[in-house]
Amino acid sequence: MTEQKPVADLTREEAAQELAQLASEIAKHDAAYHQKDAPVVSDAAYDALRRRNEALEAEFPDLVREDSPTKKVGFAVADGFKKVTHRLPMLSLGNAFSDEDLADYVGRAHKFFAKDAGLELAFTAEPKIDGLSASLRYENGIFVQGATRGDGAEGEDITENLKTIKDIPQKLIGDDVPDVFEVRGEVYMSHADFEALNKKLEAEGKQTYVNPRNTAAGSLRQLDSNVTASRNLKFFAYAWGDNSTMPADTQMGVVEAFQRWGFKVNPLMRRVKTVEEMVAHHTLIGEQRATLGYDIDGVVFKLDRLDLQARWGFVARAPRWAIAFKFPAEKATTILEDIEIQVGRTGALTPVAKLKPVTVGGVVVSNATLHNEDEIERKGVLIGDTVIIQRAGDVIPQVLGPVLEKRPADAKKFEFPTHCPICGSPAERELNEKTGKLDVVRRCTGELICPAQAVNQLKHFVARDALDIDGMGTKQVTAFYEEGRIKTAADIFTLRERDAQSFKKLKDQEGWGATSVRKLFDAIDERRKPELDKFIFALGIRHVGSTTGAMFAKNYGTFDAWMSACIAAGEGDMAARESLLSIDGIGETVVQSVVGFFVNQQNRAAIDALLAQVSPLEYVVASADESPVAGKTVVFTGSLEQMSRSEAKAMAERLGAKVAGSVSAKTDLLVAGPGAGSKLKKAQDLGVETTDEQGWFDLVGR
Ligand code: IVH
Repeated sequence: MTEQKPVADLTREEAAQELAQLASEIAKHDAAYHQKDAPVVSDAAYDALRRRNEALEAEFPDLVREDSPTKKVGFAVADGFKKVTHRLPMLSLGNAFSDEDLADYVGRAHKFFAKDAGLELAFTAEPKIDGLSASLRYENGIFVQGATRGDGAEGEDITENLKTIKDIPQKLIGDDVPDVFEVRGEVYMSHADFEALNKKLEAEGKQTYVNPRNTAAGSLRQLDSNVTASRNLKFFAYAWGDNSTMPADTQMGVVEAFQRWGFKVNPLMRRVKTVEEMVAHHTLIGEQRATLGYDIDGVVFKLDRLDLQARWGFVARAPRWAIAFKFPAEKATTILEDIEIQVGRTGALTPVAKLKPVTVGGVVVSNATLHNEDEIERKGVLIGDTVIIQRAGDVIPQVLGPVLEKRPADAKKFEFPTHCPICGSPAERELNEKTGKLDVVRRCTGELICPAQAVNQLKHFVARDALDIDGMGTKQVTAFYEEGRIKTAADIFTLRERDAQSFKKLKDQEGWGATSVRKLFDAIDERRKPELDKFIFALGIRHVGSTTGAMFAKNYGTFDAWMSACIAAGEGDMAARESLLSIDGIGETVVQSVVGFFVNQQNRAAIDALLAQVSPLEYVVASADESPVAGKTVVFTGSLEQMSRSEAKAMAERLGAKVAGSVSAKTDLLVAGPGAGSKLKKAQDLGVETTDEQGWFDLVGR
């Protein structure tokens, strides 16, 4: 990360600019984490962004944005499940990161209750489970509905999936079960189940998961509850929502009732009174963290007396009466035995630390990333050094730096290669024209003649967010490439035909049989008509991630239209270039990259070969006759983030709606983005239905 100015030294303009940047960056990470179950930064890095945002907002309260991350709870619901409006919102928690933060918090509690002479404050302390929260509704003791948190106000109905979890009773036991009670808690997956599942997925040629939390999320969001059932998810009850009566008047008492009713509650929950006791329990739980067998990321403290909870109340997205004291990322020291270079699909040379195996947070680690050559230099690590490594919520750990006192005399500096270790082509650091600086990443210039780039491109092509071919995972792609069966993406689709004529048939190879081969070929055939956005993403063009792929698909509708625009732009057609650049969210770098891709004749030939085998589908938006906004008058106001104003208008019109510029009694719907002002107020005064941009997408089914 670049050096940050202390918050107090920032000008208003700088603060506003940084807050805008943080809002969009945090939103991006939230989407990756909650919607795609695939985080791209460590939890610690994410927390650091949120902390910076909070510090800025505290210093400049008038600059708090409409779309501030502190105003959001969780993330909007995904497609495919019925929505459930939570009768009581599912909240988030404020964080403490140090003993001082915790002492401040307890200080605030005492100050709030200062007038209550002789009052002794007690808190419950329990692990913060790193899973997914769920709300379970029981009516007359019977489990009737279960939902995810979603955005806190509205979640997804995942009742059937939750019914498959053994820790969740179908029927509550005991004579004090209220008529209505919503039990809330965390669905999680154990380390052992996570590792076993990934092994199994790998053997079946399926994509593996990144960490237990994302696996639990992915498992809960299965449309087929048999899949969820096979995942052995677990559940701890720790909170509640709507209810007809309460079984106790303290936090501890309610959790004890949960246990009597048949729930699993966390065995490390205690009642503590002083800051010293709180810190001690945090330390104790921290010491057990590595051996618990499931991920936790802190300790949650809650005011024990429910009447005091009610008095202390809530802030925007979290209760005041509870706080999560987070753990620092898990660290360990071990020996850096070697540094290996991995070559990625875009040719990036990534140094990987080969470590003497060591257990960090319950997981055995023998590799860690060193990012790039500047990082090795900056950290000053030598081969042979004892190094400190850190695992921060994610599976790939990082090397933090050497323990200099333990440096052996023969520790060796790593010479970063200037040529690709796989294909021998020169490896270069490109000059960034904008900054005039060398790119931190050194890249192999061999492109598709480099076997490492080729095989990694293939892996990307079949990955979950791309073509998602069942039975074709990392392991199979590597083997097929090495055996010469598949060298390019187009080869995947001619495999059946070539195999029929081959002397070395796949069904006779180890690990395969007639049935599994047939299944694989069928799975390949099923993907001959890929969704346009996935297909564009699958091509593996630099700077074109799945979101960018979707933007192109949405704007051009067909692969031909998009490719023609890219080719024309490459031939100097300024209008075509402008049309690419006019898409909201797409800038010069992406356009340069896609245009450059199609200028390359080798790439063009590869695309032609691929298009002889597959026909990407047209990107369809729900048609006007089945559209929920057909015939309605819609007004857009405020700033929109996922589409430009003109795109929003075009989309609404395609769906049969009329788009108006101002709100009147005739308006049926106002879509208000951040910064909406008088139009929003007018709509509210007139009782016109309003929604935000995400609400609009949910409504039109996108
Ligand atoms: S209490 C009203 N207790 O942490 C308070 N939350 O950052 C509701 N979590 O959404 C939360 N373990 O998913 C609570 N023992 C615990 C928890 C816990 C994990 C999660 C939960 C919540 C998030 C807040």
